Amino acid sequence: MGELDEILEISKRRGFFWPSFSIYGGVAGLNDYGPLGSILKDRIYHEWKRIYSSIGGIEIDTPSVTPETVLKASGHVDRFIDLAVGCNTCKSKFKVESLLSDKGVEKVPENVEEAWNLIKDIEIKCPRCGGQLGEPFEFHLMFPIDSNGERYYLRPETAQGIFVNFKLLLNFNRGKLPMIVYQQGKGYRNEISPRQGLIRQKEFNMGEVEVFLDPDVNGTFRPDSTEKLTLLDREGKIHRESLVDAVNKGIIQSEDHAYFLQKTFEFAVRIGIDRERLRFRQHRKDELAHYSRDCWDLEFRIDSSWVEVTGISDRGTFDLGNHQKSSGENLAFENGRLARVIEPASGIDRMFMAVLISSMVKRENGYNNMKLLEYMAPYPVAVLPLQKKDGLSEKAKEIFSMIREMEPYAYYDESGTIGRRYARQDEIGTPYCITIDYDTLEKDVVTIRDRDSTEQITGVPYKDLLTHSPFLTNPILKKVRK
Ligand code: GLY
Repeated sequence: MGELDEILEISKRRGFFWPSFSIYGGVAGLNDYGPLGSILKDRIYHEWKRIYSSIGGIEIDTPSVTPETVLKASGHVDRFIDLAVGCNTCKSKFKVESLLSDKGVEKVPENVEEAWNLIKDIEIKCPRCGGQLGEPFEFHLMFPIDSNGERYYLRPETAQGIFVNFKLLLNFNRGKLPMIVYQQGKGYRNEISPRQGLIRQKEFNMGEVEVFLDPDVNGTFRPDSTEKLTLLDREGKIHRESLVDAVNKGIIQSEDHAYFLQKTFEFAVRIGIDRERLRFRQHRKDELAHYSRDCWDLEFRIDSSWVEVTGISDRGTFDLGNHQKSSGENLAFENGRLARVIEPASGIDRMFMAVLISSMVKRENGYNNMKLLEYMAPYPVAVLPLQKKDGLSEKAKEIFSMIREMEPYAYYDESGTIGRRYARQDEIGTPYCITIDYDTLEKDVVTIRDRDSTEQITGVPYKDLLTHSPFLTNPILKKVRK
């Protein structure tokens, strides 16, 4: 089983996420977060907000349902389109760009005619049944909603909710640039062939940041990281450089852009994504989104493929300029000048998958250990009686209710053998288990077990576990995790 399939299996079995509406056969590209996944997703968003608020970012929360006029102005109504192709035999549909890429041709055809010629030249057949492919067609990626004679769309990105509020936000920001605005929320794309769990979905969680800059000032933000990273430029050349050197050598054209690559990388590592599995890749000209002048993706390796987890785009003045023209509102920050925008936009679900894949290790005995960073673990601590009998269960529940007063995400489990319960907590990433045994009844002491080493320290007075809130700040834990 590949690592992606393994994570899908564990996630469903343990309650991280699973396909939606499965009692009705499921819908490709829609997934539910289960009890553990919901907590982990919130922790990812929490770290993301910490990073951007710590450099002065402000948050906004705008609707998903968006009037057509807004998305007409942003270019999405006319240009948010993929070229698709259907199989004449099995009727499956595919994105032309993906079929070409599978054949080693990295190209986004400009129109239906070019796509059709390429499919015929390369003799591409249906990857599902080997059947003949029909003529390509344009496939619109937004979901329309018609209500009372008006057309709306489910938003394809949260960014537009920020751009249309530029004036109010600038006012809030005391009229000053730079201004950093972030928004978390759902985005929607009518994917032609949704697949791979949380990777390609119709509805997904976004974390978008719009950084508004004076277009005539370079280096408002400057990278300072000297860590060497892998950078794949648009000509396909691989560089091992720090972001500072990448700017100095002209691999990345703008310091501000490079700084937000650095922030994106920091975020990924902060939530526990394996830095060795990350690279930045610059978009080729033909794959840039209609609003983008330059874009670097942070990509994560799953099995042997690279998956975009965040795109850091230079949108220039495209959006503000279009909304100004279309709405008639003055969206300049001063004297007719429009702000330039850099946008680090994270696919939170993809980051989530990357966190799980980065954290999963196999023990020598074949059991799984999810080495989540302590502060990311859905349950920081589990309380487990050694057995149910002899009053151990009652004592454990008493201690658990005290621990839960300080740590609401503490978990209690008394079903099955203690070994199986430890294995369960290891597989969901709980860093500490507290075991209640006969010594607890006699001496009010417990055992604390560390997830990664499986080492235990015994004889800890349980009252010492009630002194720090949140639980993970208790210095006693340092003794357990050496
Ligand atoms: N706003 C970035 C994106 O839609 O992917």
